Amino acid sequence: MSNYHIKHLEEYFQVYRKSVRDPERFWEEVAEEHFVWRKRWSNVLSWDFAKPEVKWFEGAELNITENCLDRHLRTHGEQTAILFEPNSPDEEAQHITYNALFEKVNKMANVLKAQGIEKGDRVCIYLPMIPELAIALLACARIGAVHSVVFAGFSAKALATRINDASCKMVITSDGSYRGAKTLDLKAIVDEALLSCETIEKVLLVERTKNKVTLKEGRDLWIQPLLDEADGFCEAVSMNAEDPLFILYTSGSTGKPKGMVHTTGGYMVYTAYTFKNIFQYREGDIYWCTADIGWITGHSYIVYGPLANGGTTVMFEGVPSYPDFSRFWEIVEKHKITHLYTAPTAIRALAKENIEYVEKCDLSSLKVLGSVGEPINEEAWHWYNDNVGKNKSPIVDTWWQTETGGIMISPIPFVTPTKPTYATLPFIGIQPALMDENAQELKGNQVEGRLCIKYPWPSMARTIWGDHDRYRDTYFSAYANMYFTGDGAMRDEVGYYRITGRVDDVIIVSGHNLGTAPIEDAINEHQAVAESAIVGFPHEVKGNALYGYVILKEYGESRNFDNLKKEINQQIADKIGPIAKLDKIQFVPGLPKTRSGKIMRRILRKIASKDTSNLGDTSTLLNPEVVKEIMDNAL
Ligand code: WTA
Repeated sequence: MSNYHIKHLEEYFQVYRKSVRDPERFWEEVAEEHFVWRKRWSNVLSWDFAKPEVKWFEGAELNITENCLDRHLRTHGEQTAILFEPNSPDEEAQHITYNALFEKVNKMANVLKAQGIEKGDRVCIYLPMIPELAIALLACARIGAVHSVVFAGFSAKALATRINDASCKMVITSDGSYRGAKTLDLKAIVDEALLSCETIEKVLLVERTKNKVTLKEGRDLWIQPLLDEADGFCEAVSMNAEDPLFILYTSGSTGKPKGMVHTTGGYMVYTAYTFKNIFQYREGDIYWCTADIGWITGHSYIVYGPLANGGTTVMFEGVPSYPDFSRFWEIVEKHKITHLYTAPTAIRALAKENIEYVEKCDLSSLKVLGSVGEPINEEAWHWYNDNVGKNKSPIVDTWWQTETGGIMISPIPFVTPTKPTYATLPFIGIQPALMDENAQELKGNQVEGRLCIKYPWPSMARTIWGDHDRYRDTYFSAYANMYFTGDGAMRDEVGYYRITGRVDDVIIVSGHNLGTAPIEDAINEHQAVAESAIVGFPHEVKGNALYGYVILKEYGESRNFDNLKKEINQQIADKIGPIAKLDKIQFVPGLPKTRSGKIMRRILRKIASKDTSNLGDTSTLLNPEVVKEIMDNAL
């Protein structure tokens, strides 16, 4: 038990050293002391980053829902597991106890089974942030189905791509969703997506907005009547530790989204252990992560991590600006939130509003604050620390990725002294390395390079669904025997890490990863467009915004450029989703290219950021003359 809850810095260093000296022994102890296994592993870890192949707790059998639900019933049955705060403050919050959640998950699991879902089948979940979303994940896990959650802000085309990539058999969705003052017709989006999906046999519908929907005979069913009939117990299926638990898509710098595959045993151990330590969660705490379950943060730190620890996890359906900018703070006061885990983009948006919105609420219940998704800038960090944390609640700036499954670099609150904009120290068991351009590891402190991880950790993604070669090429080919994160980082004089941002063509906008290639593809499909290039530029709320350089097939004076810009953005919204729309579009006669035909994004980035004093050597370009032209007309 001693390792489970780290209490002071010396203990951190001591446990850290132990965890890297003998990682297998360390994780074996955590796994054996804190979880329920149906069968013990025969081997803790086998790995080979060249293949790459990583297996944790090989041979072990378990069901993650027995760890998240069954085992808490005796001790915590009447404690709130999920606290649901609806979009509208006028609708009553729901306190779903462990007993109630257990029954709901079991019923839904029985419904899935009755509708033909078996172990290993993929189920797509396209739901708003309502309790049924968390219940659907757990119901899949109960029967060994692989869930693939698609964020309910994605377009029909993006949804269809993901359904087809994983050959999903079923979609679970709702009639609609509430987002602030708006209502979205989710069922219509699903209907459109399914026109190009052949593998879907059933669509289960949760009623939420009472939108008018049309049901397709033989395919679509309301879920409630089926739940009403279902038995309240469903035997949990035994899963091998390395059986897939879920697929979650993330943007790549090229081509289609990558379906990251997470497996069962290691993912459970790592998300539970990090949750407990990085939030210092204690009995009775009310923990709120504001992410959507459509992203990895929601999977690991709204659903699995908190529930594996028997915690109380808040699910918020709405947005920080509705009905006004006090909403977050009102929720903190109303539910006496002890832990608030949110994103820099939300902090920046709220910091712009009148401070009254914060000050009128009682935030004294807060103990720990968290940040995730992108580097947090100094100003936002101080605003969060001073006005929300009142200088007494430490901020855990947690660096991690969809691929890593759990938090990798982060302070431990009340243990690691924080430093604005620094994610600080590697978490227990994590061995980071910074690499220079010549693929040499930078030793010592006060260095800056590309961030890699040298040794496996339990919750790392095991592959990309259906494309293991891409998994190897993307993460394990840049540096021999290392996982490459795609991020740059520096290590300061005491060994603290600061993440400097992506070094590939992924741009983080409002905390969402967007690949440049899929957006460019969407633009290029417009009949008037010949070619395009997207770059990011600094934005005070979103962190980065998108700037598009577009070459038209015919560049005539007579064109209505404003309409064209609208059409291009509409095309992006249709193909990907509104989050990928461009803030600025510049029509250009050409793009700066190297002699091998590669677009020099570095130059485009500088122009978009209005930082043109030092463009570097442009003489080697194929077409140096376009640079001046683009600069003269930059927006
Ligand atoms: C970025 C989100 C700086 C980073 C959990 C990473 C961060 C990408 C931080 C993964 C942080 C995430 N500081 N940058 N605390 N957290 N990032 O897959 O570039 O949505 O590679 O996972 O977000 O985003 P993803």
